[in-house]
Amino acid sequence: MNYPTNDQGHLTIEGVDAVELAKEYGTPLYVYDVSHIRRTMRAFKAIFEKENVPYVVSYASKSFATKAIYQVAQQEGIHADIVSGGELYTALKARFNPKHLSFNGNNKSLEELKFALESGVGTIIVDNFLELNLLSELAQEYNLVQDILLRISPGISAHTHEFISTGQQDSKFGFDLLTGQAKEAYDIAIADANLNLKGVHAHIGSQIFDVTGFEKNAALLAETAYSWGWQPNIINVGGGFGIRYTNTDSPLPESDYVSAIIQTLKKKSEEYKWSMPEIWIEPGRSVVGTAGQTLYTIGSRKDIPDLRHYLSVDGGMGDNIRPALYQADYEALLANRPNDTPKEIVRVAGKYCESGDMLVLEQGLPETKPGDILSVLSTGAYGYAMASNYNRNPRPAVVFVENGHHQLVVARESYKHLIALDYDYNIQ
Ligand code: LLP
Repeated sequence: MNYPTNDQGHLTIEGVDAVELAKEYGTPLYVYDVSHIRRTMRAFKAIFEKENVPYVVSYASKSFATKAIYQVAQQEGIHADIVSGGELYTALKARFNPKHLSFNGNNKSLEELKFALESGVGTIIVDNFLELNLLSELAQEYNLVQDILLRISPGISAHTHEFISTGQQDSKFGFDLLTGQAKEAYDIAIADANLNLKGVHAHIGSQIFDVTGFEKNAALLAETAYSWGWQPNIINVGGGFGIRYTNTDSPLPESDYVSAIIQTLKKKSEEYKWSMPEIWIEPGRSVVGTAGQTLYTIGSRKDIPDLRHYLSVDGGMGDNIRPALYQADYEALLANRPNDTPKEIVRVAGKYCESGDMLVLEQGLPETKPGDILSVLSTGAYGYAMASNYNRNPRPAVVFVENGHHQLVVARESYKHLIALDYDYNIQ
């Protein structure tokens, strides 16, 4: 790989020196290349524009939800999918247009549903019968008509890690199709004067590398609606487009996935003599994943002769739980000298008190010393989003970089933040 560097031979991110960023903001540090994010958002939109079909690209903000990213999405004419009151709150505080929000989730609370209706969330993606009833009552109480989609579990297994596969029949999400629950939900929703049933939704899983599952899903949603004698305005096929973490991953360009979905639905619409429904996609990982990297400072090492070299950094499973949770692997480089020839293969370990706390399983690196800056690549999705205070480590800061400029968008937590909600115990 040939990484971009400056005169000092340091890695640059959008023209900004990564080692300087580490110095200025400290490590661990999440750094996002915003022009990369914009390019991807525009690329998704361009495919639909080229095919001349109605569409909505709804960024799955669970992959990375901060005020700043909602603002970038809004600037790019991208909608957002939210899955909690907390994401809704963040989006609203970012002045995101609530009409452009859709709300997913298998157990939205009464408070969350109220919050959504009171804030004017555009679309609620209804997941189950309890929610259908609650929403109907609430909409009546608030004297409004709420746009909804029905989330269906399509019975499609995607080839991905079990924990991030959601489309198979044995799933907690959505109305079951095979046993007729989806039809039952349709009958209830379509007859409800306070609910405006706009369409159907199904998400088959995440980090998927072939188009077949997406085609099947799109076709199935159309067939399902047709079998109910109904033409939906919206068909939402979810997200899940795979990205490259290491050289064992070979994702297709996003245009391949999206074109396949569009062609499938064009064909179905012709067959059923429908006007083209609005196609919604919900990409998360593919929007922010490769745009983000995490900078760490290298600390101690442990060399076990003839076995392994462990290189420890100042972060780990608290800022990136994915290796521990999904056996995910990453690639790393030395930000001080990214293009130097590798001298050894190391395993990059975190600083957390768990043997499973690893960041990179095997990485060739030049000689390193404590204080060097290591960048782990493609951490932009589900890194910060899933960060924790495990071992009472403060969560890192987030910096956005664009056009040679950098800006702090989430401050680093301090020890004070860690105990901000703690009370002294005083029952004797
Ligand atoms: N839409 C729905 C309904 C979803 O459940 C998800 C992801 C997405 C869209 C976005 O999928 P994406 O394009 O980001 O793959 N924490 C796991 C991923 C869990 C994904 C959950 N749902 C990970 O770190 O791999």
